[in-house]
Amino acid sequence: MPDVERTLSIVKPDAVAAGAAGDILSRFEKAGLTIIALKKMQLTQAQAQGFYAVHKERPFFKDLVKFMTEGPIVVSALEGPDAIAKNRELMGPTDSTAAEAGTIRGDHGTDIERNAAHGSDAPETARIEISYFFNATEILAPVEALPA
Ligand code: CMP
Repeated sequence: MPDVERTLSIVKPDAVAAGAAGDILSRFEKAGLTIIALKKMQLTQAQAQGFYAVHKERPFFKDLVKFMTEGPIVVSALEGPDAIAKNRELMGPTDSTAAEAGTIRGDHGTDIERNAAHGSDAPETARIEISYFFNATEILAPVEALPA
């Protein structure tokens, strides 16, 4: 039995501006992932810098922050069997030019930076990334934790 995991997804400004947020969220649901938290927001520069802090020494950091703040994003927490790997499979590789048609980045991304979607890469990153955007009251509680 695969582990039930949680992962963070961001529909990036390029895909939101193109009206592709609904298509991307629907791919998650069709693949068996449940949206357990959802919001649309526009990142400030400080919020984008904080989210991508691990990349702060990389040459593309400044451009990445500019891109991620250029318009609204749609952020969700997804839950399901193998959610992290499943989301990454649905997205395709980071570089949209290498992503096959039928993947999110193949269908909606442009290049390695403007790549339509972000997904967590490991359980610990997922936990940190989900808590960066959602507090406990914004995340659907597991059914077993609800009062009878
Ligand atoms: P993401 O999965 O959100 O994680 C970091 C982001 O940095 C990545 O998607 C791309 O948008 C961007 N990125 C990664 N590598 C490069 C690169 N070589 N040049 C420009 N942008 C990059």
